[in-house]
Amino acid sequence: MSTDPIIQIDTVTKTFFSKGEDVTPLSDLDLEIAQGEFVALMGPSGSGKTTLLHLLAGIDKPTAGRVVIAGTEVSKLGSRALARWRNRHVGFVFQQYNLVPVLTARENIELPLLLMRMPSADRDRKVQVALDAVGLTDRAEHLPRQLSGGQQQRVAVARAIVAGPELILADEPTGNLDEKAAQSVLGLLKALHERFHQTLVMVTHDPRAAEVAERVIHLDKGRITDLEETMAHGGVE
Ligand SMILES: Nc1ncnc2c1ncn2[C@@H]1O[C@H](COP(=O)(O)OP(=O)(O)OP(=O)(O)O)[C@@H](O)[C@H]1O
Ligand SMILES: [Mg+2]
Repeated sequence: MSTDPIIQIDTVTKTFFSKGEDVTPLSDLDLEIAQGEFVALMGPSGSGKTTLLHLLAGIDKPTAGRVVIAGTEVSKLGSRALARWRNRHVGFVFQQYNLVPVLTARENIELPLLLMRMPSADRDRKVQVALDAVGLTDRAEHLPRQLSGGQQQRVAVARAIVAGPELILADEPTGNLDEKAAQSVLGLLKALHERFHQTLVMVTHDPRAAEVAERVIHLDKGRITDLEETMAHGGVE
């Protein structure tokens, strides 16, 4: 694994200005994540985990400081450039799956490629690779409501990886799943990480989820409270 940081968070502060009371979930945060790392981000509710993930995805901007990803200062991009950058470089997995209900599994997975104006033969090939990677080839023509929660999350994972982004962000990807489905989605993320070597940042409350990661970052009151190396490689096979 290369040790070049793909993610650089440089004295980042995020304040939400709401009527009456401002909220500052992140203050003067510094963090580097290396290319190809699998990081679990943990911390109590309200500690700023989702806020941080949104800054990494360019879904939101810091109030102060810099967010640099793969050499691009995303905190500086305008909205069009940001949308284009995000579609190319970031795959996002949400707790609630966020699939389009009227599209089949295959069509949901194809969406990021349609935004890239890729020729249809290339799209078909990439969608098939992603379907195979998450083990859902036999469910490709099903609508989300015809799939279990675990299967829907697998579709969401396939959609996140289909365009080959170097950064995968997941916000409590197992939060809605029962134990068995959660283990299966975690195993899938770990296997995909080992196969494709993307950088993966996963927010989670689940201590077992953290066992599959290479590093656990604890966030508390907007600060990183400690860094803990885990024994993921070789530890939880
Ligand atoms: N768009 C927003 N406007 C105003 N306040 C916000 C906004 N988004 C988040 N916050 C506030 O920022 C703080 C951190 O929220 P965040 O969603 O990042 O926490 P979290 O660590 O993801 O929590 P959880 O584990 O419950 O998902 C909270 O106090 C929240 O109310
Ligand atoms: Mg959250």
